[in-house]
Amino acid sequence: MEQVKTLGEFIIDRQQDFPGSSGEFSRLLSAIRLASKIVSQQVNKAGLLSHIVGAAGSDNIQGEAQQKLDVYANDQFIKALAARKVVCGIASEENDAYIPINEEGSYIVAMDPLDGSSNIDVNVSIGTIFSIYRRVSPVGGPLSDADFLQKGTEQLAAGYVIYGSSTMLVYTTGNGVNGFTFDPGIGVFLLSHPNMQFPNNGKIYSMNEGNFYRSSKGVQEFIKYAQTVDPETNRPYTARYIGSLVADFHRNLIKGGIYMYPSTDTAPNGKLRLLYECNPLAFIAEQAGGSASDGKNRIMEIDPTDLHQRVPYFVGNSALVDKAEQCIKTNG
Ligand code: AHG
Ligand code: MN
Ligand code: MN
Repeated sequence: MEQVKTLGEFIIDRQQDFPGSSGEFSRLLSAIRLASKIVSQQVNKAGLLSHIVGAAGSDNIQGEAQQKLDVYANDQFIKALAARKVVCGIASEENDAYIPINEEGSYIVAMDPLDGSSNIDVNVSIGTIFSIYRRVSPVGGPLSDADFLQKGTEQLAAGYVIYGSSTMLVYTTGNGVNGFTFDPGIGVFLLSHPNMQFPNNGKIYSMNEGNFYRSSKGVQEFIKYAQTVDPETNRPYTARYIGSLVADFHRNLIKGGIYMYPSTDTAPNGKLRLLYECNPLAFIAEQAGGSASDGKNRIMEIDPTDLHQRVPYFVGNSALVDKAEQCIKTNG
């Protein structure tokens, strides 16, 4: 019987993707793997922490003040990444400015440590998103803004962790997408979803339709198209919206579909952040045969101007993203 592959083994096998990296990159991925396990364990008892352990409104068992889960996740990822010394700086959705780590490190990490925070208190899937770049400033010197404001096309790797009915880590290094499911009994991620690809006939659309009348005419046209009855083209499509980008994206990657967070009249750039959310999932989408757009242009070719920049976002099966783009180009 063929032995199941662990994430650790897989990372070592794939080290040849990065000739000359001398294992530095593998160490970085191991740090993410470690932090994911710690956060996963904490996510699983989030209900206990807020309602039982934290009931007295005081400290937790270790005598530390109760932390919100997104702050906790942020701390754990930063701690694990900083300990590996190969990271020179981290940009996190939870920190206003980027965090310098080790000037001798070559890698930059951008992350959304806890995505879908509004779902924490209601026991619905949440996630972590990460993206890895090589620094552009010289190793050994101070960081510059340019290290973080790189186009998505420059990503070396990107991934997400979904804390759902099981915990999964899905990532790409530009050589396909692979998914690993955490086995809490033995404490390891096992390769469960090799070479993930969007199925061809995606028919799920995911958007906060409460924003329908705040969206552009083009987006409204796309939604009407998705709802139109036309058995020839497999319509109407199916609406599914969790409100955790990672979870919506993950479901659509497996079942086929499009996730949209368009611009609205109150949020002209939508809600999602280019560096922490859109670029990493765009890289994964493209590697899985899909695409990602801001409604007009490829997400990964946008030149970032600001760490926390937001962009309208359409990601998923290429046919559906193309159709959404077409509606927007025609109707505005
Ligand atoms: P975060 O929890 O990191 O701030 O991200 C929340 C994002 C994303 O995960 C989700 O798809 C979207 O916000 C939901 O927004 P709406 O509640 O406006 O639909
Ligand atoms: Mn998020
Ligand atoms: Mn977040």
